[in-house]
Amino acid sequence: MGDSLITAQSLLDELQAFQLEQTLFEASPPGRVETLAYAGGEVQRLYNEYWTARQRQGHSLHELSYRACFKAELPEFFIRRLSEPGDRVLDPFMGRGTTPLQAALMGRIPCGNDVNPLSHTLLLPRLDPPRVWEIEERLASMEQELADPGPDADEPDLAPFYAPGTLGMLRALRHRFRDGAALGRLDRVEAWLCMVATNRLTGHSSGFFSGRTMPPNQAVSSETQRKLNARHGEAIPERDVFAVMHKKSRGLLRDVTDGTRSTLLSVREQACFLTGAADRMDALPDDSIQLTVTSPPFLNVIDYAKDNWLRCWFNDIDAEAIGEEITTTSKLERWCEIMGSCFRELHRVTRPGGWVVFEVGEVRGGKLLLEEPVLPLATSAGFEPIAVLVHEQDFTKTANCWGVDNNSKGTNTNRMVLCQKPGEVGA
Ligand SMILES: C[S@@+](CC[C@H](N)C(=O)[O-])C[C@H]1O[C@@H](n2cnc3c(N)ncnc32)[C@H](O)[C@@H]1O
Repeated sequence: MGDSLITAQSLLDELQAFQLEQTLFEASPPGRVETLAYAGGEVQRLYNEYWTARQRQGHSLHELSYRACFKAELPEFFIRRLSEPGDRVLDPFMGRGTTPLQAALMGRIPCGNDVNPLSHTLLLPRLDPPRVWEIEERLASMEQELADPGPDADEPDLAPFYAPGTLGMLRALRHRFRDGAALGRLDRVEAWLCMVATNRLTGHSSGFFSGRTMPPNQAVSSETQRKLNARHGEAIPERDVFAVMHKKSRGLLRDVTDGTRSTLLSVREQACFLTGAADRMDALPDDSIQLTVTSPPFLNVIDYAKDNWLRCWFNDIDAEAIGEEITTTSKLERWCEIMGSCFRELHRVTRPGGWVVFEVGEVRGGKLLLEEPVLPLATSAGFEPIAVLVHEQDFTKTANCWGVDNNSKGTNTNRMVLCQKPGEVGA
């Protein structure tokens, strides 16, 4: 493991003076600073634009939608400053895996956890991406071999989403991936295709398997889709599922070079991914993590179980059972209990001198700034709060902010509590 030499003071100095790179035509506005008092102390709250709002800045491998995912620029900002190649970087609420993927791309050992096993389906194939020719060969053979097996007895009502031929092919793909996984025959190419198909299930353009529905990170129920269909008054078009998977695969692989592959290979063996509650990551050793960059569920702003029902169906995951484990509570007190327990677990796994970046939102129409109740939780767990960073974007430039949808409900900024585990750095 590398020894991160940055101190809290030098980091604060850098953040206070931070100015996003300036171009000839645009100067980024200076940041604002205020003092925030909380039970147990005070920290500076720093407002600034910390990374660019331009679309598609991140590596192409990130281009997989997930509800309330953050942009890759967020973990990149902290991974660059607070860890070194070979360090372990964790996200205990990893979703599509933005933090571990970015960490791996930067030569850090990726670690992650989520209560929903869907996270593994979405992340692991991108740590070992196949070549385009491997994908093309497999798609060609699958096209020859697959035929509609007919609906299973418990198939949900999918007719509002898919034309009959497309639905038949989706059933065939689902059986192929499910049986392959059960027999241990799902190799890296099919694991990749399963991830891509999961990502293409619904969306608003011809690049998806469905007829016109909501953007892919906003799944709707069959009932709502029927209403949308009635409103649009359009027939649901048949899709060539193999062409759709081919196109999306090429897009995801756009930035993958031999260098990317060798970096991913160098960290893959030591990677650690878990499925379970964020406050019980028993398989992670004490004092092993240099940096955590994470974003927990913000109270009950998003229902992740409902949101992912179709993806869970495709991957044979019991969405309802998972839903019981997912943290959704409208009660701040209960949310704080759970997050307090997560902070204690993070304290156990973090190295002395290591860091946690905890991204929270402003909820209840901006009346509740979640960093305020989070600060005492971090302190009680043994962390030292260093600052609160509020990343503000110029939305005039990013009206249709790609890949991030936490602007739609509850928040229009990234608010990050930055804290450090006391102790000798690198001990
Ligand atoms: C805000 S999303 C994280 C998105 C992630 N930062 C990304 O970029 O994809 C929160 C995630 O927490 C997961 N989750 C909810 N409750 C959990 C719990 N108690 N333990 C672990 N994961 C949980 C949800 O399944 C969801 O994927």
